[in-house]
Amino acid sequence: MITIPYLTALTTYFSYGLLFAFGQIRDLFRKILDWWSADNLQGYAPICLGLEDFYIRRLYLRIQDCFGRPIASAPDAWIDVVERYSNDNNKTLKRTTNINRCLNLGSYNYLGFAASDEYCTPRVFRSLETFSASTCSTCVDGGTTVLHNELEECVAKFVGKPAAVVFGMGYVTNSAILPVLIGKGGLIISDSLNHNSIVNGARGSGATIRVFLHNTPSHLEEVLREQIAEGQPRTHRPWKKIIVVVEGIYSMEGELCKLPEIIAVCKKYKAYTYLDEAHSIGAVGKTGRGVCELLGVDTADVDIMMGTFTKSFGSCGGYIAGSKELIQYLKYTCPAHLYATSISPPAAQQIISAIKVILGEDGSSRGAQKLARIRENSNFFRSELQKMGFEVLGDNDSPIMPIMLYNPAKIPAFSRECLKQNVAIVTVAFPATPLLLARARICISAAHTKEDLIKALEVISQVGDLVGIKYFPAEPKKQQEEDGRLKLD
Ligand SMILES: Cc1ncc(COP(=O)(O)O)c(C=O)c1O
Repeated sequence: MITIPYLTALTTYFSYGLLFAFGQIRDLFRKILDWWSADNLQGYAPICLGLEDFYIRRLYLRIQDCFGRPIASAPDAWIDVVERYSNDNNKTLKRTTNINRCLNLGSYNYLGFAASDEYCTPRVFRSLETFSASTCSTCVDGGTTVLHNELEECVAKFVGKPAAVVFGMGYVTNSAILPVLIGKGGLIISDSLNHNSIVNGARGSGATIRVFLHNTPSHLEEVLREQIAEGQPRTHRPWKKIIVVVEGIYSMEGELCKLPEIIAVCKKYKAYTYLDEAHSIGAVGKTGRGVCELLGVDTADVDIMMGTFTKSFGSCGGYIAGSKELIQYLKYTCPAHLYATSISPPAAQQIISAIKVILGEDGSSRGAQKLARIRENSNFFRSELQKMGFEVLGDNDSPIMPIMLYNPAKIPAFSRECLKQNVAIVTVAFPATPLLLARARICISAAHTKEDLIKALEVISQVGDLVGIKYFPAEPKKQQEEDGRLKLD
């Protein structure tokens, strides 16, 4: 639960109020001008309408240089950020040929597989030669290669389930699977901070959706009891099926799911558990097997395990793992399996190879080292940020650490100042977060060296002072030095 300081909330509301008021005045003038310059669209309703359109035009465009920065390299610990300029007050941005070599604190490259890897990359090249970049076919037609079969077996074994099915996109895995699993007469109980792919999948399913307070098992229980007592709307018949959807690590909060408690509630009320491990699979757990391994949960207790390959495995796509019957059913019925082209073979090979490295099946201990490294890096970075006085969200062991910015003016200020000092940071604001809760989201990688992290901390500390986002008193420097920790500031 984020408790925003009173004064910060006030100034943040004031800033948004000011931006909103100026935006409305400018829109009013625009309407008057448009009225004079009548064009051939008269009679049509505007194609973009509503508050989000207003937000994009009047707020987002002012700072759009902080988002979608083009990259000219692999998303490794350091990246080449392409410089851009604007001649029209940031409305449009033009690329230059200049490159800014930056420390990368934004990519989900948790285990460092996104860069060239001595084991994975040669195998990926070979698969490209053998199978080409695309299968040009769906899985049920000509799109299942031997690599696809191997991948599904490999994923099922890795996550600890009898079977798995793989899709070409993580987002689609959630948004296309939920409507197959449940429909009208069913109930989805979703964590209030679940990812947009889950929200859209739930909406597309036609099931009734209820939300429980983020990561709060006691509230989940309250909702479940209430809904079971009430039954379906109007008829009050019992629900045909209940699915509780949670994430392993919440991508905007960096928090670990309270999985053991949530599973206990689900078992008590006979609800199915759907766990999205996009950010946790590969990244946490002794052998990288995600939150179940980290929190000591038996994977047999999670009915539907979902994850993506776009983070720890440096590839693309997503998976669903579960019982043999469930996976067979999904393969017969899921449109994303039946009608979409199968995952690109080199991407499949990258996942297989990355899993082999993680499990040590490449004959080295690099996987174990990567896992130890990401844990050490994450815990070191988080504790240093906290000592500096930043408001950092999330739990120990999580490689995601959001630093709260709140105020809209601090979003571009923080992002641009860090970039000036060659540190590329992702900032996140509305609509990806609630309006008041803008943040910078740092993703730590096993590819970061200690020197990288120290440089990043120095820059973030300096910029944090400049922008005024150290909301807590810093731990006394002397104490830090006595502890043999960093000598920053
Ligand atoms: C929790 C969660 N689920 C699903 C997705 C979608 O995955 P992908 O980016 O691989 O399409 C994301 C993306 O970051 C995510 O954070």
